[in-house]
Amino acid sequence: MNSCLVNNPWRAGTLEMGPKRVTVGILGLGTVGTGVLRLLDGNGDRVAQAAGVRVEVAGVAVRDVHKPRVVTPAPGLLKGDPGAVVNDPGVDLVVEVMGGLEPAGAWVLRALELGKPVVTANKELVASRGRELLDAAFRHRTRLRFEASVGGGIPIIAALGDSLAGNRVGQIIGILNGTTNYILSRMTSDGVEFPAALAEAQARGYAESDPGADVSGQDAACKIAILASVAFGVHVPAAEVPREGIAGITSRDVACARELGCVIKLLASAKEEGGTVRARVFPALLPLDHPLAAVTGVFNAVWVTGDAVGETMFYGQGAGQLPTASAVVGDIIASARELARGGVFHPLLVWDRPKPAQAPGPSEAAFYFRMLVSEQPGALAAAVSVLGDQEVALARFTSRGRGQGGTEWVLVTQPVEEQRLKDALCIIQGLPAVKQVGNAIRILDAPSGCG
Ligand code: NAP
Ligand code: HSE
Repeated sequence: MNSCLVNNPWRAGTLEMGPKRVTVGILGLGTVGTGVLRLLDGNGDRVAQAAGVRVEVAGVAVRDVHKPRVVTPAPGLLKGDPGAVVNDPGVDLVVEVMGGLEPAGAWVLRALELGKPVVTANKELVASRGRELLDAAFRHRTRLRFEASVGGGIPIIAALGDSLAGNRVGQIIGILNGTTNYILSRMTSDGVEFPAALAEAQARGYAESDPGADVSGQDAACKIAILASVAFGVHVPAAEVPREGIAGITSRDVACARELGCVIKLLASAKEEGGTVRARVFPALLPLDHPLAAVTGVFNAVWVTGDAVGETMFYGQGAGQLPTASAVVGDIIASARELARGGVFHPLLVWDRPKPAQAPGPSEAAFYFRMLVSEQPGALAAAVSVLGDQEVALARFTSRGRGQGGTEWVLVTQPVEEQRLKDALCIIQGLPAVKQVGNAIRILDAPSGCG
């Protein structure tokens, strides 16, 4: 018998001899928790067939037990205290879909310490404490699974952790946040303003409880940190991933991008370079023929290169009730199957390579930016002179009268080091004729140009 299984109550189990059922305790009954209950209920036979055992819900914890619910758990199952679910000896497996760092983190750790497999959709928790929680799972001979934490319904963790594990991953570039992709798509295709598009994303259950996490790029930073950790085997802390969000993107930027034959997307990228893993989140102009340009609405996509497989791309709904529940239930099935087979144990993921994760170093890209200037003789010459001093060359310039608001310049640079452009724009902002300088946004031509 595998010595890892000595303390495992399922150690004697086999498909024939094992438990007749595996019981699940769910922490959270919001967008995702509701989807998980619906799926376990509606597809129960399919789940049992895939798991080799029936999966039954034995407890659901919420903050407010009196709140009206779209789905109502069986009488007696709803608890106001996560401890009543996690510590219940009648619960074999814990699903954490409450979100946030605490108390979610404490309950996930507690469940692992009890030797119970945990499934979570909580990218914030995995990105900040994943290494510690994976260690706890290892020590207590159980598993932490988190497929739903990245890309909603896209099975990207399984792909990187298992199917592509024989490759050296070169680069990952993704649209990893459904809310911001939905907002940018509505602004681009339908002319909807940012606040209205955000409100729609919230109503559809895509946004985080604090949508600032989506808009600021923090959510995407957590997700690329997780993907980089899985792909490169090194813990990449989300807090160290440089990020820019989409708060500064205006409808005018979206329209200018379209005139340039591009769309604006919030991208996340990671690659291993010079002995370190570099990750970042940034908005970018993508030409319409770029593979990621066609990813619209709540859809996410992840482009991955491996030294054996070459280029791959994974696509699907990145947020929302049932797509996310699909990933959670997939993890529940994998965990239930292991319990039913006697708790087969091996380390799934190791994030302990002694290789530091680092912010990207200087990198060159072409940039787009807009300026609002007053009609003053010599204004253009002054701005161009500042750009020239910083060795920023222009690839394109257009000027358009904007009535009393002044003249709008739309500029595209030749590939330039980002810091040089930022320094130039800082000086230009102080020129007397310049009323406003917009955000400089990268322009990508090919996936490999993602820096
Ligand atoms: P949500 O709709 O806000 O639901 C959160 C649930 O957790 C609610 O049922 C809430 O109870 C419960 N809860 C919160 N704090 C609690 C506490 N201290 N004790 C007991 N219950 C507590 O959130 P969600 O959208 O389902 O997201 C859940 C997790 O999944 C988050 O980590 C999120 O990042 C992740 N995720 C979400 C999506 C998505 O599309 N929404 C996709 C992928 C991953 P009440 O109902 O009583 O308030
Ligand atoms: N708020 C997240 C998003 C949920 O919009 O992508 C899925 O992780």
